[in-house]
Amino acid sequence: MNILMVGVGYVGLVTAACFAEMGHQVICLDIDEAKINNLRQGIIPIYEPGLSELVERNQTAGRLTFTSNYEQAVPQASLCFIAVPTPSHPDGSCDLSFVFQVARQLANLMDSSKIIITKSTVPVGTAQRLQQEINAILMTRGVDFSADIVSNPEFLKEGCALQDCMKPDRIVLGVTNPHSEKILRDLYATFTINHDRILVMDPLSAEMTKYAANAMLATRISFMNELSTLCERTGANINNVRIGIGSDHRIGLQFLYAGAGYGGSCFPKDLRALLALAKTYEVDLPILEAVEQINEQQKQILSQKVISFFQPDGGVQGKTIALWGLSFKPDTDDMREAASLVVIDNLLSQGATLRLYDPIAMTNAKKLFKHCNNLIFCHDEYDAATGADAIVLITEWKQFRTIDFSKIASLVKEKIVFDGRNQYQPQEMHKKGFLYFCIGIPSSSLKTPEIACI
Ligand SMILES: NC(=O)c1ccc[n+]([C@@H]2O[C@H](COP(=O)([O-])OP(=O)(O)OC[C@H]3O[C@@H](n4cnc5c(N)ncnc54)[C@H](O)[C@@H]3O)[C@@H](O)[C@H]2O)c1
Repeated sequence: MNILMVGVGYVGLVTAACFAEMGHQVICLDIDEAKINNLRQGIIPIYEPGLSELVERNQTAGRLTFTSNYEQAVPQASLCFIAVPTPSHPDGSCDLSFVFQVARQLANLMDSSKIIITKSTVPVGTAQRLQQEINAILMTRGVDFSADIVSNPEFLKEGCALQDCMKPDRIVLGVTNPHSEKILRDLYATFTINHDRILVMDPLSAEMTKYAANAMLATRISFMNELSTLCERTGANINNVRIGIGSDHRIGLQFLYAGAGYGGSCFPKDLRALLALAKTYEVDLPILEAVEQINEQQKQILSQKVISFFQPDGGVQGKTIALWGLSFKPDTDDMREAASLVVIDNLLSQGATLRLYDPIAMTNAKKLFKHCNNLIFCHDEYDAATGADAIVLITEWKQFRTIDFSKIASLVKEKIVFDGRNQYQPQEMHKKGFLYFCIGIPSSSLKTPEIACI
């Protein structure tokens, strides 16, 4: 099939490369000309394991091409995917301006009937609105071909996006036209050869499914974070509780980790968009309001622990704090709405000097904080720990699991670790001579429960 992917970001580039891998002819179109020029030279704009090789292979085979030219690209495709950003408006509602801009371009340039598919996460009712907008443009143009809008929300996870795309749990198609359904079933059949995982439904339900999935996952995280505070106060261990409840197959062990709050480009903005949508329909969503509020509080928890700890000693003013992990989760360079941003902001505003390290997100961190003083970008976790009064682990990169803490002990000024992702055993850390604070686990290194609750 001849496919056009508009928007060459985390979703667009991965999906386009996977379609090309399945033998389709794919044109990737983005308004960011620098990105397109880089891609043509084999420079991949994002970090995603395996993506670089996949893009290179399909580019070399001539199945994957890159352009910024709508006029040239649109006529060549019969399927046009939209994978552009849908950020939040200041009131939390979804900003659809990028999606509609693309739709208008497609409608103005198409020269034959096409299927237009939204991969971007869009509020319920968007497919209908897009259909009306495109129909109106085609009518004004006086042409006799048409466009059919299909909702095909994306569920890939950054960090294992290729695997998710190649072997999806399910493919949701919000489609009403039988011809479009047949074409898209054919397109996705190669990804679900093991057993059919294509779920066809009406577009409204497809759009809602995406938001509902993210809202459910965010709810699990906030639920555990809420309980983690109670665990710290009562002396219970959230990790034991996680296994205790997750072993029940109705609950399951996935997405039950307490931590420093969820971030990323999807959960926070999608939850806000769902809440805003509910407001327009005058429907209250108290559970999801609480999920969001708990997460905002949880993102403060790590820096609060650090600041409270140093309070008796005059605060963090003049202290050097090492931060391990800056991306919103491991295996990605994405720092959008990451917990690290809150930690950095809070500690800097209190006068700390920060030594930052992330295995992949350093380039993005340098761009984001290029005008900030008191930030030192380090080569690795040991470099970051050098001379530090405390270490704060924010993102659970695998390489942080097996740290040589004897080496760390020789590098730091003070042996204090604040672990925002519960990566280490409190007893072990205590044996190694570290003061160790984590989330929802009473620290055995501390003498009284009151102190453990810092
Ligand atoms: N990132 C994820 O993990 C993920 C997962 C599922 C769904 N989504 C959804 O997919 C959509 C895209 O997310 P992303 O993370 O890939 O975004 P991104 O910011 O990584 O990439 C979007 C790309 O679209 C381009 N773009 C913007 N306007 C354009 C236009 N008019 N024409 C052509 N290109 C244009 C931008 O230059 C950018 O390269 C969003 O709606 C998001 O919510 C994202």
